[in-house]
Amino acid sequence: MERRREIEKRMRKIAESFGYREVATPTFEYLELFTRKSGEGIIEEMYVFKDKSGRDLALRPELTAPVMRMFVNECSVMPKPLRFYYFANCFRYERPQKGRYREFWQFGVELIGSESYLADAEVIILADKILKDVGVNFSLEIGHVGIMRHLLKPIGEDRASKVMRLIDKGDREGLESYLAEIRVNEDLRDKIFSLLELKGDESVIEEAKEIIDYDFGHLESLSALLRDVGVDFTLNLGIARGLDYYTGVVFECYAEGLGAQKQVCGGGSYELSSLFGGPVTPSTGFAIGFDRVCEACSVEAGEKSVVAVVSFKGLESQAFRVASMLRERGFTAVVDVMGRNLKKQMSFASEMGAKYAVILGPDEVKSGRVAIKNLETQEQVVVAEEELFSILQ
Ligand code: HAM
Repeated sequence: MERRREIEKRMRKIAESFGYREVATPTFEYLELFTRKSGEGIIEEMYVFKDKSGRDLALRPELTAPVMRMFVNECSVMPKPLRFYYFANCFRYERPQKGRYREFWQFGVELIGSESYLADAEVIILADKILKDVGVNFSLEIGHVGIMRHLLKPIGEDRASKVMRLIDKGDREGLESYLAEIRVNEDLRDKIFSLLELKGDESVIEEAKEIIDYDFGHLESLSALLRDVGVDFTLNLGIARGLDYYTGVVFECYAEGLGAQKQVCGGGSYELSSLFGGPVTPSTGFAIGFDRVCEACSVEAGEKSVVAVVSFKGLESQAFRVASMLRERGFTAVVDVMGRNLKKQMSFASEMGAKYAVILGPDEVKSGRVAIKNLETQEQVVVAEEELFSILQ
């Protein structure tokens, strides 16, 4: 747990250094919040239940929709952009396997109120910085669902969503047969397959221009800015994302060494505010799969050294007093609560990895002194109580 806390602490620190403020939303929401736009994939995976009044509720599978609901209810008149971050548990009824859990944690951000490529740039730079800081070896891929959705306009929104889902799953055969089923003409079919194969440096934008008449300015400006600030990425126009609400730039990070569940971060731009009754508010964000990052990253928990205060029988209140003094000076101090004799207290102190034992015997207490034993070197000194802190430091 200490290691997880250390990783969380670093993530929070970086998000806050970018001006993001923490928000918290309820663990469950009305089911409708997620069925409106999150997409079939997520709906199938939700924990859904009825409350005592028969209302349909769901455990949150993610936090973008809840944060946008909160934005619409409480913050839509606040000056834009708004920068929010969260660290929370999510629930998805998926087949559990390594790196895929039914309860998992996300560290995410939402940057609300800008449609500029600068907003996408900021969240990508932030995700990149967080993953680098915690020592994850990862690759970053950036796509744009608006391009594929534009190409798919002739088949209608519902069918387009199904196509996007098949692309996201990497199910090329399924895609082929679905396109045949809905009688997509050969020209469009070829364009879809050509577009989703486009992966590489900025030259793929030139190739995409051959396939589709679209304004690539946003993606071009974003790519140029990210190169300028030294973010390493690959463009991948085949990224579709599992959630339906994305409208433009999307991105994913894949960590080395995690096997099938290697996606440690996913995000992109979307518009959910108007769907929840608020003003049209373009937004962008990402969520990091915290449990996967903990698997993949190199952060070690900081070792906090413990001081064991051990005492003869009858000197318990002295032990509590000295421990309290130590804690006030920032040490982690533990006292015996088992009623053990001195010898057993000493051996427990060694077993739990305490670095020092502060020993209180009748003679020491009488003369206002304490014995300090270094449990690593076994050296022992007797000092006046006031000198205790300087020796332990
Ligand atoms: P997502 O890609 O569904 O996006 O989830 C984000 C990350 O959560 C994934 O990249 C993955 O690391 C982690 N994750 C997802 N499912 C599981 C699971 N069952 N077990 C462990 N980790 C998992 C979203 O949720 C969007 N709300 C991200 C976003 C924020 N887009 C815009 N703003």
